[in-house]
Amino acid sequence: MTDIETHSGMTSGPQQAAIIMAAGKGTRMRSKHSKVLHEVAGIPMIVRVVESALNAGITKVVLVVGHQSEEVIETLNARFPNVDISWALQAEQKGTAHAVMCAEESLMNQGAFSGDVWILSGDVPTLSASLLRSLGEAHPREPLLVTGMKLDDPKSYGRLLKDDQGELFAIREAKDCTLSERAVDEVNAGLYRVEATLLFNGLKTIKTDNAQGEYYLTDLVDYAVQQGSKIACPILTGERALQLEGVNDRVDLAAAESRAQHSLALAMMRAGVTLLRPETLRLSAMTIVGEDSLIEEGVTLIGESVVGEGVTIERGCWIKDCTIADGTVIKAYSHLEGAKIGESASVGPFARLREGTVLEAKVKIGNFVETKKTLMEEGAKASHLSYLGDAKIGRSANIGAGTITCNYDGYEKHQTVVGAGAFIGSDTQLVAPVSVGEGAFVAAGTTVTQNVPADALVLTRPETTHRRGWATLFHQRRAHLKK
Ligand code: UD1
Ligand code: MG
Repeated sequence: MTDIETHSGMTSGPQQAAIIMAAGKGTRMRSKHSKVLHEVAGIPMIVRVVESALNAGITKVVLVVGHQSEEVIETLNARFPNVDISWALQAEQKGTAHAVMCAEESLMNQGAFSGDVWILSGDVPTLSASLLRSLGEAHPREPLLVTGMKLDDPKSYGRLLKDDQGELFAIREAKDCTLSERAVDEVNAGLYRVEATLLFNGLKTIKTDNAQGEYYLTDLVDYAVQQGSKIACPILTGERALQLEGVNDRVDLAAAESRAQHSLALAMMRAGVTLLRPETLRLSAMTIVGEDSLIEEGVTLIGESVVGEGVTIERGCWIKDCTIADGTVIKAYSHLEGAKIGESASVGPFARLREGTVLEAKVKIGNFVETKKTLMEEGAKASHLSYLGDAKIGRSANIGAGTITCNYDGYEKHQTVVGAGAFIGSDTQLVAPVSVGEGAFVAAGTTVTQNVPADALVLTRPETTHRRGWATLFHQRRAHLKK
């Protein structure tokens, strides 16, 4: 599920397009997969960037792909089935200016585009739509907008060189800097907005006379200066600057993940959810939690999970793609995947609900109970140590400790049906396909192999024999064996 907000943010001015560069190899990631497909808060980086662009009101998106382009295209088509994304192949990566040049044809394919072009990088996963929007609103007119950031450690970022009036006149890549230029702490974030005409005329003038022998997009600044075009160069600091940090390796990826987690947790708390230790959670961008819910420490809540109001999720739970209705408690260290849980239910501690589990309201699942493809109707209980697979457990039925559905014969899965109000004694095996009628009583230790009529008692219990004094005699006979 990809959530595209609709708004009029940037649509009032000239038409907005975005060219997103994602052709690079991402060598430092050391991965078989494209760098931009690595996930941050459960969403591939490139999907996050496209989403921010669309949410900021940019209507035309051109993606420059190269390395592992098929994988990238496939992922984006699946995520944005209704969005018109154009592709530009940059077969050989000759630099950022070359990447943008490759996008020109795709951008112009439905008639000449003369609006503003945002240039984004696919490896900047925490850039938000609101930052894009606010940059556009703060600088509605300048033909070239270069986003800068002030960093304590400017690392290998391009340095922003300004004249005495504080006007940007060049961006110098770290590798091309003199010592004094290297000391500049205002750097190029790699996020630009350029008028299309200025951009594509300027790109034609860019050469490769630099340390890396590449076509540098940053040389566009020289061209704009020559043309006398005004350049906006806002310098972002603090959280806004952090949003623009790129991901080049797994260390950067972890930093981006923790920034994304931090902002998800903040949004969740602001939406009325109590998080005991927000820094210990793992959330996904698709997770929704209702007001007055409480999430304890070390909880993973990922995928498309929807949690209602007043729900408590105790420490250490792992929950993916689940729906949990109001007032339910998920006790400590439970593992839930693909389950749907009704109101005021109680699950765990140490429960495992697998794909296809449906618990209706007020169901109780206790410790060491595993369920799969199982419907528990309202008020049904399985309080201890059970496996319930391919089963339907009727309203208010009680499943005793140690009950097992024997649902698999080595070839096929079979169904078990337990009627409403039935009582399944401890240590029962329900050999499927089998049913237990409404209100029936299965005695402890029974192996149920035939359907049980409603209201009946079933037991498969051999006669009990007591041999008085047997134990003492046994020990006397065997004692000599022990030295
Ligand atoms: C670039 C900027 C630098 C800035 C930094 C911010 C240039 C010359 N330098 O440097 O000033 O501080 O970003 O992060 O632009 N890409 C392609 N095709 C190419 C080359 C790159 O698609 O031929 C893509 C990459 O996949 C990546 C993005 O462009 O998504 C940036 O490229 P990268 O090589 O990381 O540029 P930096 O050296 O970081
Ligand atoms: Mg980079």
